[in-house]
Amino acid sequence: MITAARRPLDSTLDYAALPREELTERIVERKAELNAVILGHNYQRVEIQEVSDFLGDSLGLSQEAAATSADVIVFCGVHFMAETAKVLSPGKTVLMPDPRAGCPMADFVTGEALRKLKAKHPGAAVVAYVNSTAAVKAESDICCTSSNAVQVIESIPEDQTILFVPDRNLAHYVQERTGRENIVAWDGYCYVHDDMVLEELDRARKTHPEARVVVHPEARQELLEQADEVTSTSGMVRLAEQHDALIFGTERGLVDQLNSRFPGKTFVALSGAAVCGNMKLNTLAKLAWCLDHGQHEVELDEEIRCRAEQSLRRMLELSGGWTAPSDEEQKLEEAGLRSSGCGCA
Ligand code: 13P
Ligand code: SF4
Repeated sequence: MITAARRPLDSTLDYAALPREELTERIVERKAELNAVILGHNYQRVEIQEVSDFLGDSLGLSQEAAATSADVIVFCGVHFMAETAKVLSPGKTVLMPDPRAGCPMADFVTGEALRKLKAKHPGAAVVAYVNSTAAVKAESDICCTSSNAVQVIESIPEDQTILFVPDRNLAHYVQERTGRENIVAWDGYCYVHDDMVLEELDRARKTHPEARVVVHPEARQELLEQADEVTSTSGMVRLAEQHDALIFGTERGLVDQLNSRFPGKTFVALSGAAVCGNMKLNTLAKLAWCLDHGQHEVELDEEIRCRAEQSLRRMLELSGGWTAPSDEEQKLEEAGLRSSGCGCA
């Protein structure tokens, strides 16, 4: 029951005027009233991560969305992630704090454009990176994430052509890792990762020669070739638990978060410019507003949802369940904040 002191306010600006402590209290109270769960991506602002029930990469969060017993899923990430939650949990209400938080990479390909490509390659298998719309997933045979892309490609018969959408860099990475020649890649990319350049890595390496380099597979080939490790955002979190010095080729919010969790370690962003403005559209104020007003709800055409679900479920079946939580994850869980991810990278 909402007390007089906690009555909903009219606009997100009214919430923005409140102190952080009050916003957090409102979020916690309202979440309990609604039996809601907050799923937060690793690139979210630290204050959103702090109120998230589960933090993770795309795969871990989709597994949580599929398994949760909550009535309401509040997704703090970008649109395709919230849409994936709705595809996997159609009976639940899925909310986003800011509906403008889209992923420009996902917008590179539409369902219609993919149908045209399929018509040119009859018999090809279609693999949709999870950073895609439900309409594109509905046109696909199987999805993949940065955690399981190699495994997904290896599940497809060697002589079958693969249409891979929409990330050309991830497509190239899996091509290199699997030796598959017959992958037709869509020409999409993530502006945050694609803009990182070798010169930035060279400078970071000169300043921190002791650091290992970990790069997200959405980055360009020349950076991946220089990396000691290529992995998803949750893979990076696990590496941060194991190493004292790392250079991260990914969105710098993840690096800020890891620096605040491990103040004694040397964690450096490969590029200071690598910021996903779309992820950062979510704020604590909008999250509090979203819970109080039951908005913005993600809705999907049922026919598209069903077909997208098949593609996602095939991926989830292939990816298996959970790995045992690490010591650090265990501590977070005990503190009421659990990190998630499948560990199959
Ligand atoms: P992860 O699945 O590795 O978290 O990546 C999602 C994403 O959008 C990276 O840009
Ligand atoms: Fe999309 Fe890139 Fe932002 Fe990830 S970092 S959500 S791929 S724009």
